[in-house]
Amino acid sequence: MNSRIPGFYKLSVEERLKRVAEFAGLDEDDIKAVISHGLPLDVADRMIENVIGTFELPLGIATNFLIDGKDYLIPMAIEEPSVVAAASNAARMARESGGFVTDYTGSMMIGQVQVTKLADPFAAKFEVLRHRDEIIEKANECDPMLVSLGGGCRDVEARVIDTIVGKMLIVHLLVDVRDAMGANAVNTMCEKVAPFIERITGGKVYLRIISNLAAYRLARAKAVFDKDVIGGEEVVEGIMLAYAFAAADPYRCATHNKGIMNGISALMIATGNDFRAVEAGAHSYASMGGYKPLTTYEVDSKGNLVGTIEVPMAVGVIGGATKVNPVAKVSLKILGVKTAEELARVAAALGLAQNFAALRALATEGIQRGHMELHARNLAIMAGAAGEEVDRVVEIMVKDGKIRLDYAREVLERIRSG
Ligand code: MEV
Repeated sequence: MNSRIPGFYKLSVEERLKRVAEFAGLDEDDIKAVISHGLPLDVADRMIENVIGTFELPLGIATNFLIDGKDYLIPMAIEEPSVVAAASNAARMARESGGFVTDYTGSMMIGQVQVTKLADPFAAKFEVLRHRDEIIEKANECDPMLVSLGGGCRDVEARVIDTIVGKMLIVHLLVDVRDAMGANAVNTMCEKVAPFIERITGGKVYLRIISNLAAYRLARAKAVFDKDVIGGEEVVEGIMLAYAFAAADPYRCATHNKGIMNGISALMIATGNDFRAVEAGAHSYASMGGYKPLTTYEVDSKGNLVGTIEVPMAVGVIGGATKVNPVAKVSLKILGVKTAEELARVAAALGLAQNFAALRALATEGIQRGHMELHARNLAIMAGAAGEEVDRVVEIMVKDGKIRLDYAREVLERIRSG
């Protein structure tokens, strides 16, 4: 199946869904879940407290993605115009030179146990490390299922930190959470080992909680963008200058990384993942040596642009809302991913595509034209344009620089009256 679908954006919603259904083998129930505002109230009522309804976002499909030699259609839930189009556009350019290549360091999450009131914190650290195997064993007792799937607590780290109230010992459980996001498994383990850690250190444990700085669970992606495909040497130079700007200036870097997360968070929401966890991980990872871009850009010996991304990716395909929200289930089916690893790899590629598209637009014509075009499309449809009329109304509105509903109506009338 090929994810390169020229003119996908020109199809009606029904036609698009039909194409996606063919691509992903969706059945009637899947289709119904997507079009019938899929999250039932009784399910929503079990997901969080005090439910009074559900809240919806548009679900779009980014096309053209070729990742590690496999074609993907990527579902994205997002309110912002141009993001889905930009990702698809970048993916189309990347696939001309082979698409995205990715890497994943494994599903290792960090759980933190905060040990306080220690007279001798370094001796306590010694005791924790000396009892490493027992701590691991106790942690794994609470999740035999995870262990049977090949996961579980793998290692223990201990650090003495200086705080405003004195030294503390911070114990890390390193847990392979396999295909889950992992918060439940990790938090349970932290709570389980806490009394033992208190006993061997003589300290008092307070916090026992996962760290969202998932520095051992990194997803990486790389793509080469052919200079002739992306608009020539000047575009390459413009993107390099944009990257240099972000790398040198936190005010710009925040926006640079925000653009990356436009893609990644939209995928997280579509698949029912905890997008706040992934956001927190991304920005905290970006600031580990001073706030920096999550992507890098270089020019290779042929003058082509080489982009990479490295970002923590605490994502799951089991647990949480991934299997409870029917639309999230369908999103995973559209993606065709079976493991957290594959979802993480796709997310990294999407983040890189999103960032490349933003930099290319910013370094050339700016992003407003794309935004305005989409806005014009909406207005044309609101004015009653259908089929080919939409493109013609948009074209005239953009050319005349009048993107307004009254003008859309006027143009449509003009077109219809020949
Ligand atoms: C807008 O949501 C995202 C951008 O601002 C990202 C960027 O500036 O790199 C376009």
